[in-house]
Amino acid sequence: MDFTVLVVDDEENFREGIKQYLSRDVNYEILDAASLSEAREILNRQPVDIIMLDVQVGKEYGPDLLYDINRIRPTPKTILITAYGEVEMAVDAMKNGAFDFLSKPVSFPLLEATLKRAEDVIRLQKEIESLMGAYKKDFSFVVGQNEKMKRIFKDAQLAAKAQVSILIGGETGTGKEVLAKFIHQNGPRANKLLVPINCAAIQPTILESELFGYEAGAFTNAEKRKPGLFEVADGGILFLDEISSMSMDMQSKLLRAIEEKKVRHVGGTKEIPVDVQIVAASNRNIPEMIEKGDFREDLYYRLRIVDIEIPPLRERKEDLPELIGFFVKSISAERGVNITKVSEPVLRAFQNYSWPGNIRELKNAIERASIFCEGDTINLCDIPADIAKFE
Ligand SMILES: Nc1ncnc2c1ncn2[C@@H]1O[C@H](COP(=O)(O)OP(=O)(O)OP(=O)(O)O)[C@@H](O)[C@H]1O
Ligand SMILES: [Mg+2]
Repeated sequence: MDFTVLVVDDEENFREGIKQYLSRDVNYEILDAASLSEAREILNRQPVDIIMLDVQVGKEYGPDLLYDINRIRPTPKTILITAYGEVEMAVDAMKNGAFDFLSKPVSFPLLEATLKRAEDVIRLQKEIESLMGAYKKDFSFVVGQNEKMKRIFKDAQLAAKAQVSILIGGETGTGKEVLAKFIHQNGPRANKLLVPINCAAIQPTILESELFGYEAGAFTNAEKRKPGLFEVADGGILFLDEISSMSMDMQSKLLRAIEEKKVRHVGGTKEIPVDVQIVAASNRNIPEMIEKGDFREDLYYRLRIVDIEIPPLRERKEDLPELIGFFVKSISAERGVNITKVSEPVLRAFQNYSWPGNIRELKNAIERASIFCEGDTINLCDIPADIAKFE
């Protein structure tokens, strides 16, 4: 059995009806509870993937259970069952993290479609989570002594805690993605997902369906409906890398999603509420793009509630010793070699060089040196000639 579904309702007939209907599907293990306290007991005892929760459970208010549910990791997907006229409560519950709602009498095809959608999100989250395990591990953020970097370190921590939109600028290789991971790890969303998407690497039409999801039949090849990355990142962070390459049309759609905190699948009509913190990165000058009409000013201001510009390495050369030390240590550990020192001429060359590829280039230079280096010290002959010549 792949999914455990908990049905919470005081009406036994309803629970039985749902149980009978769902038990036709071998993928489900079905549990039921007649009160909120019974539901809490079950949730404390075993993992549950999907909860069907009545708004009125006897004299109790069903959505009260959401406070308990939201503390569980991974958070079960709650489908609220409402009676006629309770739509407002349902909307409220959605804001508090419910996955969806259905009204009574429950239409079975609709129930099945909703469950399938919850399953899709759970599967995708699991898949991404396992990828993220690997993604998180290789991450360290070296701050250094540069005043701007110290400031960035503080701003990033505050912005992470405040869960506001953050726009990270900086040349290629300055560490925009590393900073995004740092923000994720230092905010209350650390145990939810950080979902990265490179807007430059994806065609505009595909980008839309990736971000917002799609319905079956929305376009050729759309055989099954698929949740978008906004839904996958729900509760967590969406990292929009190279945002400056997003088309104007997509920019409008993104702005709408951010402002309304809702997305709509391509080919769908239903609005799906999402709670996502946006971290965006760009290595282009966005104000210049705005002047030329290539970037929406309103989106720019929406993204840069906190605005962080990482300086290029050539403007923070005082940090070279710490960065070199960090990379020498981590790379030799990774490659199982014992390099502990960097010779004086190499340090001089590193200080004089302008590092157009910034920290990525420095890391690559040390990685290369660790391959050529024969003793415990990196010498001039181990580093790329175009850097060594600056000795
Ligand atoms: N402050 C830092 N501490 C440790 N490693 C860093 C730091 N900054 C950058 N790096 C390393 O440099 C490399 C490039 O960093 P990153 O991918 O974050 O750059 P970027 O700004 O996103 O570049 P691009 O614009 O090309 O996408 C990575 O391997 C990263 O680990
Ligand atoms: Mg990057």
